[in-house]
Amino acid sequence: MDGLDDVVAADTVLSDVDGANGRLVIRGFALEELAGHVGFEDAARLLLDGMFDELPETPEFSRRLGLARCEVFEQVAALDAELASRPPVDAVRALMARLTDGDDLECALRLIAGPAVFTATVIRARRGERLPPPDPALSHAADILRMATDAPPSAARTAALDAYLVTIVDHGLNASTFAARVAASTLAGLTSAVLAGLSALKGPLHGGAPGPVIEMLDDIGSADRAAAWLDAALDRGERLMGFGHRIYRVRDPRADALKQAVRALAASSPQLPGRIALAEAVEAAALEVLRRRKPDRSLQTNVEFYTAVLLEALGFPADAFTCVFAMGRVAGWIAHAREQVLSGRLIRPKSRYVGPTPRQAA
Ligand code: ACO
Repeated sequence: MDGLDDVVAADTVLSDVDGANGRLVIRGFALEELAGHVGFEDAARLLLDGMFDELPETPEFSRRLGLARCEVFEQVAALDAELASRPPVDAVRALMARLTDGDDLECALRLIAGPAVFTATVIRARRGERLPPPDPALSHAADILRMATDAPPSAARTAALDAYLVTIVDHGLNASTFAARVAASTLAGLTSAVLAGLSALKGPLHGGAPGPVIEMLDDIGSADRAAAWLDAALDRGERLMGFGHRIYRVRDPRADALKQAVRALAASSPQLPGRIALAEAVEAAALEVLRRRKPDRSLQTNVEFYTAVLLEALGFPADAFTCVFAMGRVAGWIAHAREQVLSGRLIRPKSRYVGPTPRQAA
């Protein structure tokens, strides 16, 4: 009960995480039908359908999201040297907090634009560079790559980032989405809900894992060192980042979607095939070590393992991976926040008091 395992806290039309069968359904579509087939804007629209008074078709939605990126860009001057020196997710959260609260689609679009523009700002600032202004004519994924990375947003790179953003756009009542729904249920507004989601996302047990996956791959270095390294990590009582999940007891379907996306990129990057080979060897060794050391558990690869390989290949710095996660998941948080508000119910569970009883008055 401590972690609310198996407690149903909301009815949702947004997504279904079927842990026993390793399936993720987003508004009636299996993940495999969406990832690699539709762009981020389509997936965001799919989630937001019915949550606002208006929702334009994808081309107009994309145009307005581009304009929202330009609007949000006006806030980037608030990034001072002190803020830029903090972990990227903390700096991005501080910048997100400058966006006005609200409940309409315009507010939602600014909030979707925010992690994209602010993460790129932070990445550039730490290299002593200024963020190039957003290009509202580009797709969201292409503009993110143009703003945040050095390589141009080729069709292959844009498709890979789209596949990533779609894969992680929503995932049932995970910790950050629950946090967003709790904040939204008080009618605090969408910005508050998104800030609650982002705050819950940053921890290493949720969206903060892929950075450490890169550290693990770098530290292991070659396939022959994997098993010994992984055993030693477990001996120290550590968890292997990118493995295990509260709900999936079989393989996380998002891991496969991302493995496919990263393989599709391999042809366009000379170093990537070697990196994928190392990742696959470490994955196989980790699954074997976990089977041997935790035989009563079913610990499988989760979304964060191939997230790390993909985002590294796209040129994002490892300590900004959580922010890139937020670029996609923000659409899910907003859809859930609106769904919660439309349900009209404040979330207010009970706790069980297990402290001392009051002493009798003398
Ligand atoms: N490495 C080693 N042992 C593990 C791992 C792991 N990755 N995951 C779970 N275990 C062990 C736990 O130590 C525990 O063992 P114990 O009962 O002997 O103490 C047992 O398996 C069950 O673990 P729980 O804590 O009950 O699993 P829970 O559902 O709470 O945790 C979580 C899920 C947090 C994802 C966990 O698997 C983990 O810490 N993984 C590593 C971090 C990670 O990859 N996070 C990203 C998750 S995906 C996402 O949020 C987007």
